[in-house]
Amino acid sequence: MKTLGEFIVEKQADYPSAKGELSGILSSIRLVAKVIHRDINKAGLNNDIIGNSGIENVQGEAQMKLDAFAHEKMKAALIARDEVAGFGSEEEENFVAFDTERGRNAKYIILADPLDGSSNIDVNVAVGTIFSIYRRISPIGTAVTLADFLQPGHKQVAAGYIVYGSSTMLVYTTGNGVNGFTYDTSLGVFLLSHENIKIPQNGKCYSINEGNYLKFPMGVKKYLKYCQEEDESSHRPYTSRYIGSLVSDFHRNLLKGGIYIYPTSTHYPLGKLRLLYEGNPMAFLAEQAGGLASDGYQRILDIEPTELHQRTPLFVGSKNMVEKATSFMLEYQNQ
Ligand code: AHG
Ligand code: MN
Ligand code: MN
Ligand code: MN
Repeated sequence: MKTLGEFIVEKQADYPSAKGELSGILSSIRLVAKVIHRDINKAGLNNDIIGNSGIENVQGEAQMKLDAFAHEKMKAALIARDEVAGFGSEEEENFVAFDTERGRNAKYIILADPLDGSSNIDVNVAVGTIFSIYRRISPIGTAVTLADFLQPGHKQVAAGYIVYGSSTMLVYTTGNGVNGFTYDTSLGVFLLSHENIKIPQNGKCYSINEGNYLKFPMGVKKYLKYCQEEDESSHRPYTSRYIGSLVSDFHRNLLKGGIYIYPTSTHYPLGKLRLLYEGNPMAFLAEQAGGLASDGYQRILDIEPTELHQRTPLFVGSKNMVEKATSFMLEYQNQ
């Protein structure tokens, strides 16, 4: 069995000119995954990390203690290794420029959703961590600027997530397919368990918070009805599955086939999910696995971001399902 460490080294050998910075960053993320895994596993026993912190984050959401904990651990691990130039996170209003000698000379920046699905922590349901890595565009040797963080998703050099589920897995891409590693807790290593993951072109599962049905755009309502209609040749009705953690819902659909939708609604006119921390990394993974990601009308990875915490509607998953859903969006766009 190959470990994540071996895999990273092997892949680096494919790029003789690479100096190993990206490998170093992936190793930092592996460490973050182990730390958060350890603490999530004890969440039910530890009042310091379970529950609401009483603070509202910049998104206007209640920040859970574990949100803040995961954010701090991630930032600390990245600062300690000195291999990135800056860090942007769902849990912090502004990006952080790592203004040390090595930080200023580093090539990459990271964006992250340190703890995804935080409303699920208190009830022992799977949560995740999402990360996205870009090459900076500001000159090496200077402190990073906002422009380094506002690059379109197609510029990502790597992205992935950790899902803390019945087992902990790390799934990532560097633009050359998607690979998944399962954490062996007794050995303390991630082992390559899912090589070159491909998402089925046709899925049978749709994931959306259907409680908001009345607030959805007409295209989404029509697509949901389509999912529920009886049709033998296309295996409908599809199955509805919604955990409420993007990482877990995406992970299931990636392996089994399916579509995840968080559309605009009268409550969230711009969508709820964040383009830089959630939309782009999931879109990169989906496309690398042979799937698609759209905001309903355009490819997620082509959106030019204007704000760090920008929101986006998201339709992501099996190619034929995303195509079908977006065809409904187009057809009913004026209703
Ligand atoms: P986060 O916990 O990082 O704020 O993300 C929550 C997101 C996402 O994980 C999930 O799919 C979605 O919010 C669930 O929202 P609803 O509860 O509105 O369905
Ligand atoms: Mn949140
Ligand atoms: Mn999230
Ligand atoms: Mn989060």
